[in-house]
This record gives sequence, C-alpha cells and structure tokens, in this order.
Amino acid sequence: MKITFFGVEKVDQSFFSQSFNGADISFIEGKLDENNTEKAKDSDVVCVFVNSVVNKKVIDALPNLKFIATRATGYNNIDCEYAQTKGIKVSNVPAYGSHTVAEFAFGLILNLSRNILKANNYIKEKSDFNYFLEMEGFDLVDKTLGIIGTGKIGKNVLKIAKGFGINVIAYDLYPDLVFAKENNFQYKTFEEVISQSDIITLHAPSTKENVHLINKNNISTMKKGVLLVNTARGELIDTDALVWGLKEGIIAGAGLDVLEGENELKDEMELLTSSSRLARTNDYKTMLEDHVLMEMPNVIITPHIAFYTREAVSEIFKTTIANIKGFIDNNPINLVK
Ligand code: NAI
Repeated sequence: MKITFFGVEKVDQSFFSQSFNGADISFIEGKLDENNTEKAKDSDVVCVFVNSVVNKKVIDALPNLKFIATRATGYNNIDCEYAQTKGIKVSNVPAYGSHTVAEFAFGLILNLSRNILKANNYIKEKSDFNYFLEMEGFDLVDKTLGIIGTGKIGKNVLKIAKGFGINVIAYDLYPDLVFAKENNFQYKTFEEVISQSDIITLHAPSTKENVHLINKNNISTMKKGVLLVNTARGELIDTDALVWGLKEGIIAGAGLDVLEGENELKDEMELLTSSSRLARTNDYKTMLEDHVLMEMPNVIITPHIAFYTREAVSEIFKTTIANIKGFIDNNPINLVK
C-alpha cells in the first residue's frame, strides 16, 4: 500500500508515519496538481489539503489510485464525481473546526466594526497615540447579523452573536427550525437576509449552485454600510462585484479569509512567468481584483487560516488517520458523496 501525503509540514510528518507502520509512505512538499502527479504515480492513497487540485487529469495520471483523503471539510477542489466513476473513494474531515471557524469569523467582524487592525497599523507605523475619526467604530449590540448557511459553523456563529446582544436572521436551504426555536432567531428568505443585515457572514459550502451566490444584483440590494465576512469559500463571492460594492460604498468593509482564485494567487509568479502553465483569462482577472482588494484599507484579508488552531489541526490529523486506516481495513468512514 503506497500512501503519498502532500503539503504536510516537516514537524508533523512523524505523526503520520508512526501511524502507518508497514505502509510505503512518502511526503511531498506542496500540493498535488497536474504538475506533480509523477511523484505520486504509484500511489494507492493520496492525502491532500485545500490547495491541491485533484481534477480529471490528475486522477487519470494516478492509475493505482483507490482513495483520496482530504485534510479538510470542503472538497470542491476534488472532482468527486469523476473519482466515483473510477471507483475511487474520497473522504473528508466533516467536523473539526466549527467553533474554530466561528471564532475567527467573529474576529473579522470585531476587527471591522472597531478598526482594530487599522489602529494597530497606525501605531506601528507612526508611534502616535492620537486617534482619528477613521478609527471610530460601531457597537454590535442591537445590530442585525445575517448568517448564510446555518450548518455546524453557522450555528456556532449564531451562539456567539447572541452573547453580544446581536439580532440574528439567517437563511439556509434546509432551515433547522428546532434550533431556531431553541435559540430564538428567525429564518428569512435569502433576499430578506441580504437586504436587512448590517453584517453578513457566509457559512455555506462551495457547490456549483453557490458560485457567485453574492453578486452585483444582490449587493445592490444590501444596506448601505454593510460589512461582509467570508470564511467559507472564495467562489461564493463574485470578486468583481465585491470590488464594485466596496467602491460604491455599499459595502463599508469586508473580512475575507478566503478569496476567489486564492490557489492561483499562491502560484502567481509561476503563472506569470511559466509558459507551461497557462492560466485562463478569468484567473488573471480575478487575481488582479484580489490585488485591488489587498490594497483597500477597509478590507481585511487572511490566508485561509480560519481553521488553523492547534486544537483543530490535531483533530484534522486524528480524523485523517482514522479515514485512511478505515480504507485500509476495508471499512471506510467519512466518505463524501
Ligand atoms: P455544514 O455542511 O455543516 O453547513 C453548511 C450549511 O450551508 C448547510 O446547512 C447547508 O444546507 C447550507 N447551504 C448550502 N448552500 C446554501 C445556500 N446557497 N444558502 C444558504 N445555505 C446553504 O458545513 P460547515 O462545517 O458549517 O462549514 C461551512 C463551510 O465552511 C464549509 O463548506 C467550508 O467550505 C468552510 N470552511 C472553511 C474553513 C476555513 O479555514 N476558512 C474551515 C472549515 C470550513
């Protein structure tokens, strides 16, 4: 059994190798994509993270592949449908960071509502303890928070919000009415949540249907001065429309742990200089717009770290090991459909 792990830090590698005595294990730096399938070509199992792109070409280039274990909840970077047609199973880590990500979403909300980063950057740059109008924030108490997606993470965001005295409204394709009753909040239509919220936070998965869930049409119905927070997936927001909404002053600030095109951004220099890897025109356009966002003082961007706490990482590793062991023992768990 050959198992290849992509993108596991050196300090963490022994954790995995000790767990699979007897298996042929290798660690490859970076991600799995069309450019480094060669290194894993005999693998029965590959273990990847969100930055890997496991598409048809990658799957076809790994003839022995039987199992893909992603060390994440989201699996939009894997062509699961195609994998299934070839009898390849895919597992994920369904629950590890529902508190972790919810806390981070709140970190972004507080940073935006109170200009904490802006003030900190000012002090560091100028060593000046005077404060200015641009540092004036607003209270969260009695404001309306709109949660899109009340799954594991959205539900924890709601509980935190209640502690702040925030009025919560939510939209989900499958509302949990029992949870709503227990926690005293209302589900509304998508349009109502988008147009009535002072702060909107996204906790829905990236699916074909959810691409550009937030777009120019609905940004134009948002309250002027709304804050938008995305810790789910970059594809949920049309970046072009977000830049427009920020420039128009409809969106007063955005907190983004995920960006559309974040994988391309990581390889930016390579994409710009290599003739072997041509990005699509849309990728370049999104990358450019991502740079526009990075320059905006009212936009906070973090590099997809909402999951990244020692507790969550430990849970991810444990579940991933259980997933791979389950596959080896012919008793697979946490399979994605
Ligand atoms: P979950 O599966 O428990 O909940 C997702 C909810 O979204 C479900 O209730 C579903 O019905 C709902 N939903 C789907 N499409 C929707 C739509 N169009 N409008 C409204 N609701 C919709 O997932 P969980 O654990 O809460 O995670 C949410 C997302 O957060 C994940 O899919 C993942 O992409 C992202 N995530 C990001 C992390 C990060 O580090 N930034 C870490 C972990 C997860």
